Amino acid sequence: MITTSIKEAASKLNENELVAIPTETVYGLAANAYSEKAIRKIFDLKKRPLKNPLIVHIKALEEIDAIATEIPEAARKLAQIFWPGPLTLVLKKRPEISNLITAGNDTVAIRMPNHKVALELLNTLNFPIVAPSANPFKSISPTTAQHVETYFEKENLTVLEGGACTFGIESTIIGFEGNRAIVYRLGSIPLEKIKGAIGELESSLNNDKKPNAPGMMNKHYAPQKKMVITTNLSNEIALNKHLKIGILAYTQPILNQNVIYQEVLSNVGCTEEAAANLYASLHRIDKSACDIIIAEKLPEYQFGMSVNDRLKRAASA
Ligand code: TXA
Ligand code: MG
Repeated sequence: MITTSIKEAASKLNENELVAIPTETVYGLAANAYSEKAIRKIFDLKKRPLKNPLIVHIKALEEIDAIATEIPEAARKLAQIFWPGPLTLVLKKRPEISNLITAGNDTVAIRMPNHKVALELLNTLNFPIVAPSANPFKSISPTTAQHVETYFEKENLTVLEGGACTFGIESTIIGFEGNRAIVYRLGSIPLEKIKGAIGELESSLNNDKKPNAPGMMNKHYAPQKKMVITTNLSNEIALNKHLKIGILAYTQPILNQNVIYQEVLSNVGCTEEAAANLYASLHRIDKSACDIIIAEKLPEYQFGMSVNDRLKRAASA
């Protein structure tokens, strides 16, 4: 059930129940970070494997020290610059932080969301919350309250209304080795910005064997329909002309008789706008009568890198 009442959402969380909450990236499925009983409900409802750790959401920069320890200078600097905002930091955890949150790792992921409703809610609670994206495991992330409601209608989940998410893809995740920052997940803060803030930045993204961010390797963010990515829509349409085609285009719609549905992510060619529209467009295409979704690859800069990452995972067999 969708509600606008922060009081109602807070009272559920105080009773160790789950509530879906808006953030600037995607809607999250929130629980009291200090209640293992509540945290377990997240894994049950999402059908998420326990080996995928969760992100702790805090309301103020100062709270970081109650959750993490041995915080590198570079991490403090990033938090100061980008919080509240779509940046998650993976830091050494304090012993009070449950192993359920961290999947048994000695690190914990933390972020401070930049959404008025989420911050108001956090300010009425006397604990931080854990919140993965509010979708069943592997499916398309939700960027509206209605997306969440559709996923969990049967379970009668309380969904706190906060409008459409402004960024529309998940936070960028950065971990550390000593003071060295390492990208674990591409997301709503472009790497160019992070490099601008701290200079050096390493990537663990191509290291397929040993993912630093568990849960990032698998098929993810996926529609029900088969999906392929291409740099050349016309070629891919020709290859699939026996099928009813749905197109996810970057800037230009395409005229073709086999295309029965299409979405354009940004008709002005803005990667940030494309990112904001990505999941909502995928939700709609998936509901259309197409047999296959053909998605156009974005340019590899700014939010284009993050969108391409999601497209690749969504299309992976
Ligand atoms: O934008 C976001 O980050 C959204 C909103 C709701 O805040 N949340 C989100 O959570 O995307 P989720 O659960 O879908 O993704 C969390 C990911 C995990 O899959 C894992 O890759 C990484 O965060 N993660 C969490 N804890 C970690 C840890 N201790 N070490 C490495 N990676 C971690
Ligand atoms: Mg997720």
